Amino acid sequence: MEENKLISPELENSGEERLENTLRPKTLDEYIGQNKVKENMKIYIEAAKKRGEPLDHCLFYGPPGLGKTTLSNIISNEMNSNIKITSGPAIEKPGDLAALLTNLAEFDVLFIDEIHRLSKSVEEILYPALEDFTLDIIIGKGPSARSIRLDLPKFTLIGATTKAGSLTTPLRDRFGIVHRLELYSTEDLTTIIKRSSGILGVKIEENSAIEIARRSRGTPRIANRLLKRVRDYASVLGDGNINLKITKHALNKLEIDELGLDEIDRKMLETMIVQYSGRPVGIETLATTLGEEIDTIEDVYEPYLMQIGFISRTPRGRVPLPPAYAHLGYKYGENINIEE
Ligand SMILES: Nc1ncnc2c1ncn2[C@@H]1O[C@H](COP(=O)(O)OP(=O)(O)OP(=O)(O)O)[C@@H](O)[C@H]1O
Ligand SMILES: [Mg+2]
Repeated sequence: MEENKLISPELENSGEERLENTLRPKTLDEYIGQNKVKENMKIYIEAAKKRGEPLDHCLFYGPPGLGKTTLSNIISNEMNSNIKITSGPAIEKPGDLAALLTNLAEFDVLFIDEIHRLSKSVEEILYPALEDFTLDIIIGKGPSARSIRLDLPKFTLIGATTKAGSLTTPLRDRFGIVHRLELYSTEDLTTIIKRSSGILGVKIEENSAIEIARRSRGTPRIANRLLKRVRDYASVLGDGNINLKITKHALNKLEIDELGLDEIDRKMLETMIVQYSGRPVGIETLATTLGEEIDTIEDVYEPYLMQIGFISRTPRGRVPLPPAYAHLGYKYGENINIEE
């Protein structure tokens, strides 16, 4: 059970959060990969600075652990501004958001994580704030109630979400800059792992960094987490330095295969291939069979399995593709059923 957490890109405890902070790059140049996003952001930041204006509101979306929070911190850093961090579920009432907004200073960055989880009434306060930097508030109750309009400092909202599809259109339309973060290449993850090893003060061989990168499902957070585990094995079973033998041993013990798949990935593919004979399966059915949340399957498992060409989404459900059969040792096209 515990080991499955290795794959889940969610943060599990404060110890890990501390580690993340030490490993977090602070400037755009230190931010590895995501070149398209980086190049664009460099231009926008420079242009905004030249005009002496705050940066346009930004929305970053993509699977967990790809660096949305990191990038947002870097942007405020590069803009030489302060960042205030909150999240969709933390802003319960319109008044909470009003308080946050009125406490901002000119050019501040307001970072709202999980922005798709803002309530309707909170979202409505946000619209004029984003568009005209104004806040409409109602003072008093009943017949004496009146609405007043306050001017807000010019600020930049950065929203992050794993579910861009769940954002309402009016909210989405108010972001001038929208970027999707992509899963990372093995090369980029290798660079990230070497950088992190340097910060952690462990020596790692090139081939070991590549091996960890290959099994990190395109996700820096997972790469850093696996590195940490391999480091444990190296310090207990070896001399503390990370070589290929220790790396493979550690990753196999963690039951993470050569492609970075874990037990749940394999169970999911197995279910699709054997139980449903490769026919389209609905996400609800998969979730129930696996005992996982739909959100977890959609945000954590599917993006990588789709990226490596193991499954595809059809209007009638998810289907397994030939490489998935090959990986699990089944023959594609042969009718496999449970009785076998
Ligand atoms: N481009 C990058 N270069 C180097 N390290 C990175 C990069 N992106 C992310 N990381 C590392 O991965 C970790 C996770 O990144 P981050 O917390 O920003 O992800 P996230 O997209 O905000 O995830 P979530 O959706 O769960 O909030 C960070 O600690 C950071 O060290
Ligand atoms: Mg984050």
